[in-house]
Amino acid sequence: MYTQLEQRGMAEPPITITTLRKMKQQGQPIACLTAYDASFAALVDAAQADLVLVGDSLGMVVQGHDTTVPVTVADIVYHSRAVARGLRRAFLVADMPFMSYTTPRQALENSVRIMQKGGAMMIKLEAGDDQVDIVRHLARHDIPVCAHVGLKPQSVHKIGGFKVQGREPDQAKQMVESAKRLQDAGADIVLLECVPNEVGQATTEALEVPVIGIGAGPDVDGQILVLYDILDITQGRTPRFVKNFQQGHDSPLAALQAYVRAVKDRTYPAPEHCFS
Ligand code: KIV
Repeated sequence: MYTQLEQRGMAEPPITITTLRKMKQQGQPIACLTAYDASFAALVDAAQADLVLVGDSLGMVVQGHDTTVPVTVADIVYHSRAVARGLRRAFLVADMPFMSYTTPRQALENSVRIMQKGGAMMIKLEAGDDQVDIVRHLARHDIPVCAHVGLKPQSVHKIGGFKVQGREPDQAKQMVESAKRLQDAGADIVLLECVPNEVGQATTEALEVPVIGIGAGPDVDGQILVLYDILDITQGRTPRFVKNFQQGHDSPLAALQAYVRAVKDRTYPAPEHCFS
């Protein structure tokens, strides 16, 4: 657990929230991926991804559900603990599952569990104006928070599917303002999913904290994708923003290195991976 913090003598020090903030300030793209077990975490780390997320997408890609809704705190703790063992350099973030942060008190209890038992360094929760007080409560207790805005997959049954968000100017404006309120309440990172390029750019310009996009266009501070999608393990239809990095590479490590390179040199995402 926390192997990253034991590597102080390493030539390349572990990534911290300070590193990520500096990367934003210096305009260096942040390469992020999901992982769910120690072996893949070690590969993602070897490929020099800066941030690894134990996403509740594990409900779909590992457990075989249609949505992320069935994932529990115990599932996240189990997978996060495994991923933490595989990492040396990358910053570890873990998801708060559906209904695990309905009140500030419940959110704090579950964050503590995920950090203490799962080894996560930051928790991510799907957020809007209704979660501002929760984020503030967590920040007051020194829990690092990533606020996930835009398309919120845990709300899939409420919004009627996995759809692009923020296409209407009013909705886009509200989304940027809400992200700003979450930052002001103490969110350390904002993750923005499935929005037109302009919303990605406006959010990134409006915020001081790093903005990580998934289907949010090229003008954000970093990119994240689901590991199994980029390794071509996911069967069937994948979202528009997914690129198969396994194609043309003879090992998973080579594919992951190609992804990190493409994020760093901004060749990913290309126009065909973006929404307008
Ligand atoms: O659960 C997940 O994998 C996510 C994505 C944004 C990467 O939240």
